[in-house]
Amino acid sequence: MQEEYAVQEYAVQEYSGKATMEKITSLAKRRGFVFQSSEIYGGQSGAWDYGPLGIELKNRIAAAWWKEMTRLHDNIVGLDSAILMHPRTWEASGHVENFTDPLVDCKKCKSRFRSDMIPEENLAAKKCPDCGGELTDIRKFNLMFKTNIGAAEDTASVIYLRPETAQGIYVNYKNIIQSNRMKIPFGIAQVGKAFRNEIVTKNFIFRTCEFEQLEMQYFVKPGTDEEWFNEWRKKRWAYYEKLGVKMDHLRWHQHGSDELAHYAKDAYDIQYLFPMGWRELEGVHNRTDYDLNRHTEYSGKDMQYIDQDNNNDRYIPYIIETSAGLTRNVLMILCDAYDEEQVAEKGNDDDFRTVLRFHPDLAPITVAILPLMKKDGLAELAQDIRTELKEDYSTDYDQAGAIGRRYRRQDEAGTPFCVTVDYQSKEDGTVTLRFRDSMEQVRIPRAELASRLHQEIKAYKRVK
Ligand code: GAP
Repeated sequence: MQEEYAVQEYAVQEYSGKATMEKITSLAKRRGFVFQSSEIYGGQSGAWDYGPLGIELKNRIAAAWWKEMTRLHDNIVGLDSAILMHPRTWEASGHVENFTDPLVDCKKCKSRFRSDMIPEENLAAKKCPDCGGELTDIRKFNLMFKTNIGAAEDTASVIYLRPETAQGIYVNYKNIIQSNRMKIPFGIAQVGKAFRNEIVTKNFIFRTCEFEQLEMQYFVKPGTDEEWFNEWRKKRWAYYEKLGVKMDHLRWHQHGSDELAHYAKDAYDIQYLFPMGWRELEGVHNRTDYDLNRHTEYSGKDMQYIDQDNNNDRYIPYIIETSAGLTRNVLMILCDAYDEEQVAEKGNDDDFRTVLRFHPDLAPITVAILPLMKKDGLAELAQDIRTELKEDYSTDYDQAGAIGRRYRRQDEAGTPFCVTVDYQSKEDGTVTLRFRDSMEQVRIPRAELASRLHQEIKAYKRVK
């Protein structure tokens, strides 16, 4: 909600990468990563569809996060809670009252603006930045989507689409303690859709009305919260390093008192340097005992933790939250991976390539199998190799066009490995393994392919 404040406080560091939002948007559409929602009807703003490569990328980013947070932490478990929750949830959480943006409308051109995102002088003169028409007074605009459940459309049937996944975790925290015998400190992780009626949706999938979050809530003993807050900041920073993200494109931003959400005692954003400047990627928040206290108050249920190892001590835990946008991570990974380079002598057809340098764990296609020719049994041999690799790797098969062009197509899709099958393969059972980043090629026995890919993925280090 308050992201733009954070950005404005900084002198924006010059972006020197090769990506632009136009290039990313166009590549995303051309290669089937992301399409505009309902495009044939002129598009639905604030919503996007993930195509064949996009859904693979999004799923892999979610899987990497899930592994990091649950499998690699013995005391963090998963949850998939419903999008529709009892409306009292959002009164308790403070969203009905506080989850607002300041809004002004132009009486003449009917444009709508967040008042904190238009120039001061326009606001003071109540003058529309687009057409010069008169602006309305500032009013609070609640970002939650409201709808009705059941047949009647009365106030009793009002229900919200969740604006964050976190509340689904809080209302289940006692269920999870009981069913899974969790002891503090412990965490609950969730990946899921969230909805916000954003006034300004721009920059492709950066800020949308329908998006996905990767949230983890860590329940700790009061008094240990600051220590755990720092610990989670370290862990989340290390996570992006492990994913191979350009670390000089990340920085911390601590929320000032004017930015802190209503529930937070302290909050730091991890910002990424996108082509349009530094923007929030993920937040680490110390939410104190605010949420569980409020749910106690509004539900009448006892939300205290009973510490059986300490004389049945009772307390409301503090919560450290790590909250990242999954769809925003997709944009970050696309921008971070994007590169263009000169690869051969000028004048040569293949002298330039666009390449997505995805970490192999995130790449939508891990390995493409390319027969040099369709004929003489090479296509069949390549298909056979594909069948063998399919079980363990996401594969593609391409027999159309010159081999150089096929490599370029795979580079643009971010495929880290290509296997080329030629006449020699038929004779001696070897194939060529080609590496996306260095474009080096090695000849290896087909029998060693699967294990070599495994080694290469494990040892992968980003070089450019
Ligand atoms: N539970 C805390 C929470 O929701 P937030 O800072 O409002 O905190 C967390 O959101 C993350 O969700 C952000 O860092 C961002 O990555 C993502 N996010 C928030 N609003 C978004 C939007 N409209 N479109 C895409 N991603 C969004």
